[in-house]
Amino acid sequence: MKAVYLIKYGPAETAFEIRGMKKPEPNSNQVLIKVEAFGLNFADIAARYGKYRGAPPLPALLGYDVVGTVEKFGTNVLNLNLGDRVTALTHFGGYAEYALAEKGVVHEIPKTIPSGVAVALATQSCAAYYLSNRLTNIQENEKILIHAAAGGVGTALIQLALHKKCIIFGTCSSHEKMEYLKKNGVNHPLNHTETDFTKTIRKLIGDKGLDVVFNPIGGKSLKQGYRLLGAGGRLASYGVSSLNSKKNIFKKLKDLWQFGIYHPIQFLRNSNGIIGMNMLKIAEKKPEKIAKVMQEVIQLYEEGVLNPHVGGEYPIDRLAEAHKFLESRKSMGKIVVKW
Ligand SMILES: NC(=O)c1ccc[n+]([C@@H]2O[C@H](COP(=O)([O-])OP(=O)(O)OC[C@H]3O[C@@H](n4cnc5c(N)ncnc54)[C@H](OP(=O)(O)O)[C@@H]3O)[C@@H](O)[C@H]2O)c1
Repeated sequence: MKAVYLIKYGPAETAFEIRGMKKPEPNSNQVLIKVEAFGLNFADIAARYGKYRGAPPLPALLGYDVVGTVEKFGTNVLNLNLGDRVTALTHFGGYAEYALAEKGVVHEIPKTIPSGVAVALATQSCAAYYLSNRLTNIQENEKILIHAAAGGVGTALIQLALHKKCIIFGTCSSHEKMEYLKKNGVNHPLNHTETDFTKTIRKLIGDKGLDVVFNPIGGKSLKQGYRLLGAGGRLASYGVSSLNSKKNIFKKLKDLWQFGIYHPIQFLRNSNGIIGMNMLKIAEKKPEKIAKVMQEVIQLYEEGVLNPHVGGEYPIDRLAEAHKFLESRKSMGKIVVKW
C-alpha cells in the first residue's frame, strides 16, 4: 500500500513523499480501513514544522481522520461489517491508503455523505461538541466568543451555539471570512485585523461580560478573552496557533508571557475559569468518552444541527497545495485529500 510520509520539516513542497509500506494488521480492538480520503487539521501544519510535540519522529505518518470502508477488524469489534462505509479518528497514520483506528472511534455513515463532511464530523465536530457540550456546557442566551470562527472547529462551534440559541461573537482575519460568518448566523462577526475585538465586545455587552470563550490561538488573545469573561464565565483553551507561528525563541517567550499568569484564587474570586482540552489525550486515556461524543455528533448531523462546510478538496498529488491553503489562513471549513 501507499502512504504519505513527512520526511522533512519545513515548507509543504519538500516535506512529503509517497512511499510503499506494508498494510497494517488490526489487533483485537482495532479496525483496518481502506481510506478513500483523509482530512487535514491545523495541527498537521505544526507537525510539518516539527512543532507538534506529540507527533511521531521522521519519517512520520500524520493524520487524525479518515473516511473509507472496513477492510478487516479484530475479534472484539462487534458492531461493524466488512465493507461498511465509516468515518474514523486515527492516532496519526491517516495519510495512507489503509489506516488503523480503535473500535470506539470508528462510526458507520451513509454511503452518500461527502468525504469532506465525513472527516470533519470525526475531528472538528467532535472537538467542537466536546468543547461546547462537555467542557463549557453552553446555555441558551449565553454570550460566547469563538476565535478562528470561520475554520473547521469554528464552524462546528457556530452550529452548536446556534442550536443552543446563544449570542455569538466570532473573530476572523478577512472580509471573505466576515461574509462567511454572517451567512452562518454569527451575530457579531469581528475582523481582528481591522478592529480591536475586545473594545467592540466590551461596548456591546458592557461589564456583565462574556459567558464562554473558545480559544485555539493562545498568546495575547487568551488573556484578552479571559478579561472579557463575566461571573460564571468559562474559557476553553484548545490550541496555540500563535505560539507555533513564532519563529524565534524571543518571540516565543514573549508570546508565552502574553498568555498571562493565573491563580486559582483569582478564579474563585471572579467565579470563572480556564480549562484545556486535548482530544488525542482523551482518546488515548479514556476512549469511551470520545466514542460517546462521536455517536452524539453523528446523531446531530442526522438531525441537521451539524453540517460541516468543506472548504477544499484535493487529490493526493496536490497534498502540498492543500497544506499551504490551510496554513495561509484563507481556508474556511474542512480541507480533505482524496486518494
Ligand atoms: N485540542 C484539541 O484537541 C484540538 C482538536 C481539533 C482542533 N484543535 C485546534 O483548533 C484550531 C482549529 O483547528 P482546525 O483544524 O479547524 O483549523 P482552522 O480553524 O480551519 O484553521 C486555523 C485558523 O486559525 C487561525 N490562525 C492560524 N494561525 C494563527 C496565528 N498564528 N494567530 C492567530 N490565528 C491563527 C486562522 O483563522 P483567522 O485567520 O481567521 O483568525 C486559521 O484559519 C487549531 O488551533 C487546532 O490545533 C484542537
